[in-house]
Amino acid sequence: MNTWRNLPGKALVTAYALRPRLRLRAGEAAAVLSQGERELFLGMKRYDLAHSLAVADRLRDDPPLYRAALLHDAGKLPSELGLSTRWLYTALELTAPRFLRRLCGRAERKAEGEGAVERMRSLPRGLWRGLYVQSHHGEIAAELLRGLGSEEELVRLVGGHQGRPADVRAARLREADDSR
Ligand SMILES: [Fe+2]
Ligand SMILES: [Fe+2]
Repeated sequence: MNTWRNLPGKALVTAYALRPRLRLRAGEAAAVLSQGERELFLGMKRYDLAHSLAVADRLRDDPPLYRAALLHDAGKLPSELGLSTRWLYTALELTAPRFLRRLCGRAERKAEGEGAVERMRSLPRGLWRGLYVQSHHGEIAAELLRGLGSEEELVRLVGGHQGRPADVRAARLREADDSR
């Protein structure tokens, strides 16, 4: 996606993330999730929580899609993705997207194992693991959700949200995601 075009949405979410009632609001929204999903959702960083709530707000008419919106970025695990890598990723996305793609390709080639979570854990903490998490956070979240016994449609929507939308539902998630 074009990050420059999305700057107004990002500014809005940043302001929303600073609101003191954010965690309370997230706790209320999490009532539609299972216990395990709720823990994954509420474990997100404030910015991701605010972003996910703003995306989900636009998809209230479709309950499975609403749940997918709450959880779509839950793969950006705070324990695995540091603030400095997040800043670097965003800065490179804005100024040097081709260089960023090359770096992510290197992280991809360094990773070993079956599945996104195992591959993520095979990388040293810091830059390489963070780049891998950023570029595979959808698949990581999907694997964690599958392990929690989440419904298959939720796993599918979350797991595919970084790629080309496969159907109307996925396209709606993408559109709402890109706007916030
Ligand atoms: Fe995402
Ligand atoms: Fe997102």
